[in-house]
Amino acid sequence: MKLLVCNDYQEMSKKAAALIAAQVKLFPESILGLATGSTPIGTYDELIRLYNTGEIDFSEIETVNLDEYVGLGPDHEQSYRHFMNEQLFNHINLDPEMTHVPNGLAANPEEEAENYEMMVECLGGIDLQVLGLGPNGHIGFNEPDSFFTPGTHVVDLSKETIDANSRFFSSRAEVPHQAITLGVKQIMQAGKVILLVSGEKKAKALKAAVTGPVTPDLPASILQLHPDCTVFADEAACEWIYDD
Ligand code: GLP
Repeated sequence: MKLLVCNDYQEMSKKAAALIAAQVKLFPESILGLATGSTPIGTYDELIRLYNTGEIDFSEIETVNLDEYVGLGPDHEQSYRHFMNEQLFNHINLDPEMTHVPNGLAANPEEEAENYEMMVECLGGIDLQVLGLGPNGHIGFNEPDSFFTPGTHVVDLSKETIDANSRFFSSRAEVPHQAITLGVKQIMQAGKVILLVSGEKKAKALKAAVTGPVTPDLPASILQLHPDCTVFADEAACEWIYDD
């Protein structure tokens, strides 16, 4: 695991986008694993800029998103499908049919999780996975637990995650209590992993993920075992490095 401390959010976003752009240029048929949340927005903006200046072409790229809220469809402003369309997909030349996000409106979410898992396997897995970090150390929606869940699954969101994500909804009561998420197996099988971390609210989880034991209590800690994981973090998230 490499930790790259960037001066600020903008530098973090540019550096992460440069690595994704290199993947797209070198391997134009890559499967990109994508994340939502506020942290990757700057990275997606930079990818859009690189597309607009003709530096990258997404026409043969296929994308797989990490997760989706159970109960939210593409028309809901807080669904992750809506987020991805607005923040990235609508602004670049990705074929909409080559973008995958779990269906939050599936009648049987468990079956949807199984189908999503199979779909990713049929694609041959993920070449480069982008991740954000939950304040409780979650990746995707793999919440702290007493064991790691390998496969794609339906998860009950923790109180801390519901609290953290309530800022995007008009009230806490509107935050869904469940989500469909890729498990740690497909994340760990990705060829490359990029973890984006910004702000002092993430400092504690980042320190534990990077320096603590590998434990399902802090799901991001498993990335210590990934052979090619780069953490792009801004200084605010890395203050603990300079302590003592
Ligand atoms: C959600 C997503 C995660 C994301 C996390 C952090 O819970 N499921 O994939 O990493 O939010 O979001 P933010 O970047 O807004 O702090």
